[in-house]
Amino acid sequence: MSSIRNALNHAAITLATRHKGAMLESEVLLAYALEKSRTWLHTWPERELTKAQLARFNALVERRLQGEPSAYITGEREFWSLSLEVTPDTLIPRPDTELLVELALEHIPRDEVFNIADLGTGTGAIALAIATERPRSHIFAVDYSADALAVAERNRTRHGLDNVTLRRGDWLTPLNELTFQVIVSNPPYIREDDSHLNQGDLPFEPRRALVAADNGLEDIRKIVADSRAQLAPNGSLLIEHGFDQAAAVTQLFKEHDYTNVTAHRDLSGQPRVVSGQYNSQIK
Ligand SMILES: C[S@@+](CC[C@H](N)C(=O)[O-])C[C@H]1O[C@@H](n2cnc3c(N)ncnc32)[C@H](O)[C@@H]1O
Repeated sequence: MSSIRNALNHAAITLATRHKGAMLESEVLLAYALEKSRTWLHTWPERELTKAQLARFNALVERRLQGEPSAYITGEREFWSLSLEVTPDTLIPRPDTELLVELALEHIPRDEVFNIADLGTGTGAIALAIATERPRSHIFAVDYSADALAVAERNRTRHGLDNVTLRRGDWLTPLNELTFQVIVSNPPYIREDDSHLNQGDLPFEPRRALVAADNGLEDIRKIVADSRAQLAPNGSLLIEHGFDQAAAVTQLFKEHDYTNVTAHRDLSGQPRVVSGQYNSQIK
């Protein structure tokens, strides 16, 4: 027999040998094993676990010890206060990407009807976050992966967001009849030889969600070039990139005649998003 508190402490000590944030991970896994919330665990720390509950929890901890991301074990990850289904077909949404959402929202007035594109939507994280904050706008979300789009569709339905349309295809190709006031993207941007690909959760995530050719810049280059034809006059493009790519991405925006090109830093001071505007009318 073991109390909730003891089971959590024991698992956290074990997980700490491999992972950061071991107590949080333990709580997430025990809450999932018991089908309760983390708040419930905090409310009942002395409650004894049954043998079956403890065995279930220990099996989950063992999977995590083997490296499997806890979001894939539980099938859930929170992003922008939205609980999202996550599968091995999708990237696990990162807290860092909330910066891209915050910046995009600054370009989308609450009371106007804007067309927004989210390129490479994965779980739908960015599109759904924007859709909840800007219910009058319509968000068109694209992914090349049919399996990822199926997850995004279930997340769209789960949150009842009728102002999101999902389309399958290569970046802007499935949206070619539309123009957008704002285009956002968190595309693959990791170099093929980057050693981070062997670390943390990354070996478990879809390679096509992570890796891009040309020093990680191939997809960003294409999106910067092709967005020009589909941005409304003075429309904005915002792209997330790797912490060491701000200069290269800024340069790409400028080479393609975007104006007001700005590199934005996250809370830890790393530049992670470049934005710019394009006005086809003055070309
Ligand atoms: C870094 S993940 C971002 C996922 C999600 N937007 C997020 O922030 O959590 C990049 C996404 O781009 C998609 N992708 C890769 N190549 C693509 C392409 N040529 N056209 C459209 N989507 C693509 C991947 O399937 C993946 O879902």
